[in-house]
Amino acid sequence: MRLLTTATLTAAFGVTVILAGTHSSPAAAPKPAASNVVKKPTASNAALITQGKAVANSNGCNSCHTATYSGKKGFSPSIRSTGVTKQYTLATWERMMNTGVTEDGGHVAKPMPVYRMSAKDSAPLYAFMKSLK
Ligand code: HEC
Repeated sequence: MRLLTTATLTAAFGVTVILAGTHSSPAAAPKPAASNVVKKPTASNAALITQGKAVANSNGCNSCHTATYSGKKGFSPSIRSTGVTKQYTLATWERMMNTGVTEDGGHVAKPMPVYRMSAKDSAPLYAFMKSLK
């Protein structure tokens, strides 16, 4: 918008005005998820894990999978690294959190929600679950 206005003014006056120092660079693009490869918790991916914990909290995973994410017998599975998450690669996890298609190609059953979550959120979430031994 601002660029367009400047261009219009420039055209109207037929002069080129160089506005030194006022050039607004495009907003910094959001950083891609730290990495496609979720490794063991280290200082470098501690931030990713913290972010994943926030995603878990804001999506209420704990309301059904319990506060420790170890699942409720006869209702929901453990989603800790030693639970169902073990079967998942980052790619199949992202698919699952976005479409409800499970690791084995089936579909998650209700009441597990189909989140339509983008990788921006599901990748940190995966790192967080993987960090829970
Ligand atoms: C309303 C309750 C509820 C909420 C909220 C919920 N889950 Fe679930 N989840 C379930 C139930 C019940 C199952 C078992 C469904 C099944 O057997 O297909 C399940 C299954 C799963 C599975 C296993 C899928 C598979 O391979 O069979 C994963 C992974 C999972 N949930 C992750 C999550 C995450 C991550 C969140 C938060 C973003 C979440 N769930 C929130 C109830 C819930």
